[in-house]
Amino acid sequence: MTGAVLLAAATGVALVLAFLLLLYIVSPLTSPKPLSLSGAHVVVTGGSSGIGKSVAIECFKQGAFITLIARNESRLLEAKREIEKFSVNDKQVVHSISVDVSKDCANVERVLKQAQEKLGPVDMLINCAGTSANGKFEELDISRFEQLMAINYLGSVYPTRAVVTTMKERRMGRIVFVSSQAGQVGLFGYSAYSATKFALRGLAEALQMEVKPYNIYITVAYPPDTDTPGYTEENETKTLEAKLISEASAVCKPDHVARTIVKDAILGKFSSSVGTDGHMLAVLTSGMSPISSIAEVLEAVICMGFFRFMSLYYIASFDNIIRRCMVKKEKSEKMD
Ligand SMILES: NC(=O)c1ccc[n+]([C@@H]2O[C@H](COP(=O)([O-])OP(=O)(O)OC[C@H]3O[C@@H](n4cnc5c(N)ncnc54)[C@H](OP(=O)(O)O)[C@@H]3O)[C@@H](O)[C@H]2O)c1
Ligand SMILES: *[C@@H]1O[C@H](CO)[C@@H](O)[C@H](O)[C@H]1NC(C)=O
Ligand SMILES: *[C@@H]1O[C@H](CO)[C@@H](O)[C@H](O)[C@H]1NC(C)=O
Repeated sequence: MTGAVLLAAATGVALVLAFLLLLYIVSPLTSPKPLSLSGAHVVVTGGSSGIGKSVAIECFKQGAFITLIARNESRLLEAKREIEKFSVNDKQVVHSISVDVSKDCANVERVLKQAQEKLGPVDMLINCAGTSANGKFEELDISRFEQLMAINYLGSVYPTRAVVTTMKERRMGRIVFVSSQAGQVGLFGYSAYSATKFALRGLAEALQMEVKPYNIYITVAYPPDTDTPGYTEENETKTLEAKLISEASAVCKPDHVARTIVKDAILGKFSSSVGTDGHMLAVLTSGMSPISSIAEVLEAVICMGFFRFMSLYYIASFDNIIRRCMVKKEKSEKMD
């Protein structure tokens, strides 16, 4: 009896030691040197509105030179003026480019080459241009599936292609992909949108493995519902089910979300999330993603099972919302 207990204890200790040894082996690979934004060239796609604009302001406040990218010129100009108010020295510049990042990769590469001639090689690229749509799978216009993939996915591939070669030559750089909590969990009405945001995660994992030896770090940000012009627009066409589900969490301010994204990108963290539920989702969906810190790995190893257990509550309540909506709709159809 005591023999068995001793054996179990010894095995436990051996497992813990083996785990600590493993962590020790990977630890030099986990933490890059934080990037200083002072004098750095930061490109923000979707920088004329919402989260992108707040990200640009945050970087500008830290001394960066900014290239803003979006389509609508008058909104770009307005954003440029707003950002310039936050300058911390008189050398700083905000340069804006009107281009559609979802079309014509060669053209996106050309304009970013011009931007690099003006403000120097890109130190950080933040892919924030994106849009969303909510509706039942068979009711969404099929063109929406194509548009969302073009803007949210290809619109992040093209700017990244335009900067990655120079980053590899310089052996430095940061690239951020702005996904969404809907890129961690598929929710009612987001069949078109979620697919594009999940796609960014796959792109980011593969690319990170390629560029890590070149000292380039990728961040995938998973913002919650955030109070932006884009969110207000989406809210107008949202299904009732999606509205009720999103009531499970609060709407965040874009400044708060942007500060977190910039902070995590500077540190080279692979995953960036906001709030307690955002943090839980990040742990729960960490899978086999790149390691950013020992603490993060330990937390995942210890908490993942428990978080999966807690997720049952959310899944059940979402299913319940959707069933109730369906029953209500069928009743009202019978009455007509
Ligand atoms: N707000 C949220 O609740 C939320 C939550 C999770 C994730 N996100 C993601 O965060 C990102 C920003 O969202 P947001 O709500 O801040 O959006 P937003 O207010 O609608 O701003 C979108 C920005 O992207 C630009 N853009 C859109 N399509 C473009 C294109 N084809 N080429 C170049 N620029 C383009 C827009 O400018 P033009 O229209 O002038 O081109 C604008 O500057 C998106 O990727 C979104 O999916 C948002
Ligand atoms: C560009 O944005 C302005 C200001 O929001 C708006 O009035 C205008 O209609 C937009 N132009 C286009 C072509 O969408
Ligand atoms: C979203 O729409 C609902 C009405 O359907 C409204 O009550 C709510 O305030 C809107 N939220 C935002 C942020 O626009």
